[in-house]
Amino acid sequence: MEADPRPTRGLWPKNPVIYQIYPRSFQDTSETGEGDLRGITTRLEHVASLGVDSVWLSPFFASPMCDGGYDVADQTAVDPRFGTLDDFDALVARAHALGLRVMIDQVFNHTSDQHPWFQKSLRREPGFEDMYVWQDPRPDGSAPSNWIAFFGGAAWRWHPQRAQYCLHQFLPCQPSLNHRNPKVHDALREITEFWLARGVDGFRYDAVTSFFYDPEFRDNPPAGDTQARIPGPANNPFTMQRHDNDMLPNDCAAFARDIRDWAGPDQYLIGEINEGPKSIEVLRKFTGPDRLDAGYVVDLAERGVSGTVLSDMIARLGAPGPLAWWLSSHDQARHVSRDGDGSARDARLFAALTLALPGPVLLFQGEELGMTQSDLPFEALHDPFDRTYWPDPPGRDGARTPMVWEDDAPNYGFTSAAPWLPMICPPDGPADRQLSNEGSVLQFYRTALRKRGDLNLADGRIEVLLAEDRMFIARIVSVSDTVVLAVNLTDGPQDVPYAGTLRPALQSAEQPVSDQIAPRSAIWYHA
Ligand code: GLC
Repeated sequence: MEADPRPTRGLWPKNPVIYQIYPRSFQDTSETGEGDLRGITTRLEHVASLGVDSVWLSPFFASPMCDGGYDVADQTAVDPRFGTLDDFDALVARAHALGLRVMIDQVFNHTSDQHPWFQKSLRREPGFEDMYVWQDPRPDGSAPSNWIAFFGGAAWRWHPQRAQYCLHQFLPCQPSLNHRNPKVHDALREITEFWLARGVDGFRYDAVTSFFYDPEFRDNPPAGDTQARIPGPANNPFTMQRHDNDMLPNDCAAFARDIRDWAGPDQYLIGEINEGPKSIEVLRKFTGPDRLDAGYVVDLAERGVSGTVLSDMIARLGAPGPLAWWLSSHDQARHVSRDGDGSARDARLFAALTLALPGPVLLFQGEELGMTQSDLPFEALHDPFDRTYWPDPPGRDGARTPMVWEDDAPNYGFTSAAPWLPMICPPDGPADRQLSNEGSVLQFYRTALRKRGDLNLADGRIEVLLAEDRMFIARIVSVSDTVVLAVNLTDGPQDVPYAGTLRPALQSAEQPVSDQIAPRSAIWYHA
């Protein structure tokens, strides 16, 4: 196993646990049915009591909300639906008082088409002409390349005002910024400085693998066999191309050094790596002492949680630190339903798995309650990605249903108005009920997080002992302890070699089976 060369950043642990908050769905205090920054502040104690190191706030910036806030119209303004900059300052102060760091999202790949930069670019105002990726049509009027947007359909939108096409790697209302224009980087650096001055401790960079593309706009070849395909639904044509020319990870990785320079040495930086087949190899280029601390890839979410996928990722990774482990986010169906049956048992199983792994971990709000995926009707969906693929939606809105806090309050204490998405409650109930139940998913997360710290697993080394589709056993060696992690994804009890002599440190099963590992459960043994 290679040594981890990354330095420790400021007040950060080397491999933090980061709790993702989706502001629209956390806590409403303005009686709009949507969450807001003040609401987050009132609920931070819940987050701190889990024992995580940081929150990461998904975008709360001024936005027409075509893509849930990832379509930013002003990167330094708080959208009025979420509150004000003063509310943000209060949130940071409260988080710091509770010992939590604050990371925010930075969407540097694109803006909203409502952004003043885009409006000026559309009018060719001096200084703004080339802030986006404008290209003339081909002689036959067609788009400059065959590139396809992530959500499906051409990645070029025709703008009669300029008689040109503009690149958008996501929605047509999210024009891609021209990262080859130094003016764009000056503007992004100023945005970074703005938030640093407000006391943030780190950034999550959206879509970092998409910033650079072939300057000659050559066509992408077909992906052909499934090996070369980027993971994703088969009915999305984005998966049918080999993304050789619309995503150039090598150029992007060099840009990761600029991002580090802007943010300074003390900030923890993490990037979203969307490069499917070579995800981890690309991630390794983005991370390092002078670049991002970590990245996260979609392998487990797209390929499914299995011993073989885990072992493949660990082997490709080398030293664990640069890969952030996660199972749920605002972009995928919730794992407890996607890879499990939605039960509290499966929620505990996946918690024991993720929280044993060395490296940083991302938790998505509500997973600590065992929140399940909601099967929303078409009329309830806001997300354009989900709506386009109906009746086979990727399930983004179904993962974003609001937090459930209290039993005896309307809408589980999330809002007194009509919630923006229909709400569902996980098997163990809302947070307050789970707090008073020692056997709940919430209590299990708290225990597992505490033991992860006690056993120093985050900075450990991992060695895979057994990797099958439905079984995974690994040894984790930390500065203080050696732990054997055994995961049984089958529906029957399984033997764990050497288990008779080992003492369990944590078991996810409610009814452990002696000398064996119970069905759908994970155990940490002292070794
Ligand atoms: C990232 C975000 C996702 C968004 C996309 C476009 O993948 O996580 O929610 O739709 O970028 O901004």
